[in-house]
Amino acid sequence: MVSRVIPVDPFDLVIFGGTGDLARRKILPGLFRRFRSGQMPDGARIIAAARSELDRAGYQQMISDAIQEFGGAEKDDTEAVAKFLEVLDYTPIDAKGEGGWKALSKMVRKDVIQAFYFSVAPSLFGDLAQRLHDYKIANAESRIVVEKPFGRDLESAKELNKSLADHFDEKQIYRIDHYLGKETVQNLMAVRFGNVLFEPLWNNHYVDHIQITVAETVGVSGRGAYYDRSGAMRDMVQNHLMQLLCLIAMEPPSQFGADEVRDEKLKVIRALKGVEPHHIVRGQYDAGPDGPSYREDAENPRSFTESFIAMKCHIDNWRWAGVPFYMRTGKRMKARTSEIAVVFKDLGHSIFEGDEKRHRNILAIRLQPNEGIDLQVTIKEPGPGGMRLVDVPLDMTFAEALGAGEHEVTDAYERLIMDVIRGNQTLFMRGDEVEAAWAWTDPLINGWEARNDVPKLYDAGSSGPEDALMLLHREGRKWREIRG
Ligand code: BG6
Repeated sequence: MVSRVIPVDPFDLVIFGGTGDLARRKILPGLFRRFRSGQMPDGARIIAAARSELDRAGYQQMISDAIQEFGGAEKDDTEAVAKFLEVLDYTPIDAKGEGGWKALSKMVRKDVIQAFYFSVAPSLFGDLAQRLHDYKIANAESRIVVEKPFGRDLESAKELNKSLADHFDEKQIYRIDHYLGKETVQNLMAVRFGNVLFEPLWNNHYVDHIQITVAETVGVSGRGAYYDRSGAMRDMVQNHLMQLLCLIAMEPPSQFGADEVRDEKLKVIRALKGVEPHHIVRGQYDAGPDGPSYREDAENPRSFTESFIAMKCHIDNWRWAGVPFYMRTGKRMKARTSEIAVVFKDLGHSIFEGDEKRHRNILAIRLQPNEGIDLQVTIKEPGPGGMRLVDVPLDMTFAEALGAGEHEVTDAYERLIMDVIRGNQTLFMRGDEVEAAWAWTDPLINGWEARNDVPKLYDAGSSGPEDALMLLHREGRKWREIRG
């Protein structure tokens, strides 16, 4: 099997913040891989713009180094690297002043697709949008790409939306949530809407509950200043986990189109009920043999910020009435794993005498690592001894099923940037979606702040605080084990 390459038209991609961490780690190495696989047309150009007084050669050297560090196996293709560097250009720019804008205006072509990637602090979004407009660099077809954090509450998200909407139409704005670019996250939709098998069971008649887990082993060291003002709720739940929740819970869109999909996701967010305080568990990792505590990493000895959160949510609609959605995410946990598990209800009646064990079908979708699907089914234990039942996994690891190496694994950023060039907004968040997500999140955060809630300590390398386990235990349920 050969990976299919969908051609795109010539483009100018301007990356503001082109010398920053994200650009060097993700954006440019990702673009290099797309270039190498032949997805970039002749005449594609990437123009980085940032504060540093670099020249083109200096920038090319910076990116050559970045590809060596973050480019994956493809970095050894020196010929491709050299050709890719030819596509790059650089211009110094002052985002808040007037310096560099005329030069940029001369560099950007008017007769090709234009995309402007704001890989900068959100406080600069408005300035950049304004100047792109004032210097007549952008036009009605240009695309604007922005990154999280998109606000820290509803009010600031509204302001950001407005600062972009003053100059650009919603159809031009691409808000990245890199989780939507992950291969298996898209597979969630393929599994649900591409199979006859699951959809009839996807409701409160058959589903007991759903678990969403995003566990990480990394701590916050090195980015404590940002993280300590955010916490797991703002950093992970308001965006990534809610997007997963939407994809698992939404109604089938009439087609796989940008607005059709986003309309359905929005309905899910709007149908989310508020969460009772006793259904939220916040945690903070303690010092362990392998590393310092959260407070040390965050350099804030009095921090009450959560590095872990678990909660029980309900979606107030016909399909999901009464079905709990349990979400959890945390840093410095036992293993790095992201998984969505749909736990089906028990059989109403067992015909097998003496079989008292509770057998449940569970559909687990592993997002990372080891992307795949695992369906737990009940079968007869082989051998003599009567009808003894046992639960076994029908396990499909995508790399094995599809042939490892034959299918390129596209990094989330690569896919999303190419979607921007293609003009496909399906995997990007719409402004109303982001606002609705904050509208749900804000009261929960305000609630624990008003209560002076103190996060529970948990051991680094564990599954989170005991209280998070109790969230399910007291209802006769159990979290799935966190395994790498
Ligand atoms: C980012 C968060 O958005 O996602 C980080 O800011 C987090 O805190 C990261 O570590 C997780 O992404 P991934 O792709 O490694 O699961």
